Amino acid sequence: MRLPGRRCAQWPAIPPVIRNPPLEQSPPVSEPLLPERARVPRHIAIVMDGNGRWAERRGRPRAFGHRAGVQAVRKAIECCLRAGVEALTLFAFSSENWKRPATEVRALMDLFLRSLRREARELAENGVGLRFIGDRARFSPELQAQMASAEALAPQALKLTLNIAVNYGGRWDILEATRALAREVAAGQLQPEDIDQARFECHLSLAALPEPDLFIRTGGEARISNFLLWHLAYTELHFTDVLWPDFGEADFAAALAEYAARERRFGLTGAQVRAAGAAHA
Ligand code: FPP
Repeated sequence: MRLPGRRCAQWPAIPPVIRNPPLEQSPPVSEPLLPERARVPRHIAIVMDGNGRWAERRGRPRAFGHRAGVQAVRKAIECCLRAGVEALTLFAFSSENWKRPATEVRALMDLFLRSLRREARELAENGVGLRFIGDRARFSPELQAQMASAEALAPQALKLTLNIAVNYGGRWDILEATRALAREVAAGQLQPEDIDQARFECHLSLAALPEPDLFIRTGGEARISNFLLWHLAYTELHFTDVLWPDFGEADFAAALAEYAARERRFGLTGAQVRAAGAAHA
């Protein structure tokens, strides 16, 4: 199943005040976590790589690494809340991960189910809204039901939207959006020439959210691996050798610091960007 597109009534809009709250209203934040308050990414996407190697280095089964990965997920959520990040999108299971050994796939499904049962309520109580993106039809009815009930626990005051990509692929996402638009054209509801970027994005999984500002991949590989192919067009990329279960507050702070030091140009010249910045100062 796929959530219908967008702009998009059923996904709550992110309250803009969360982004850079006035200092006196801010939660306590350790200094190194916020290198520059004004340059905090609104949306971070993470490929959590390295669980298997982390476990193998300890002579343990790969599932042990995935369980340790859940602890790192908790830390990342806490860091996002403290830094004022509005959305976090995690690649938990790709459409290609079904090809892994059956024991590992079973262990991951079991881990998702148990983690959701254990954590969903507490996340909502802490202002974290959960969403799943990807094709859920292949998951067990029990897991699908658990995902739906976790999404239904909408927090009263949304601080962070947490998207978990499961059985997700960037190409699948683009194809689904294309099919949805083709259906609208076939039904006479839409003219092909009316298809523009905004309308296309309406049918993508992360429709109601800002595009990721920062992409992080742990585990030493420097590739996107069919994650958010459309959305990463202008995203700043941060690759680290740290294995996901070891990715902690200092690593998160380092990624934020690197992001804050980047000049995002979106096709403009550096001089144009600096002039625009000075005009808004
Ligand atoms: C990639 O590392 C990791 C995965 C395919 C699974 C990621 C899942 C988690 C961290 C659990 C998250 C749980 C929830 C509920 C969000 P790998 O196994 O490919 O590592 P390797 O490259 O060292 O083999």
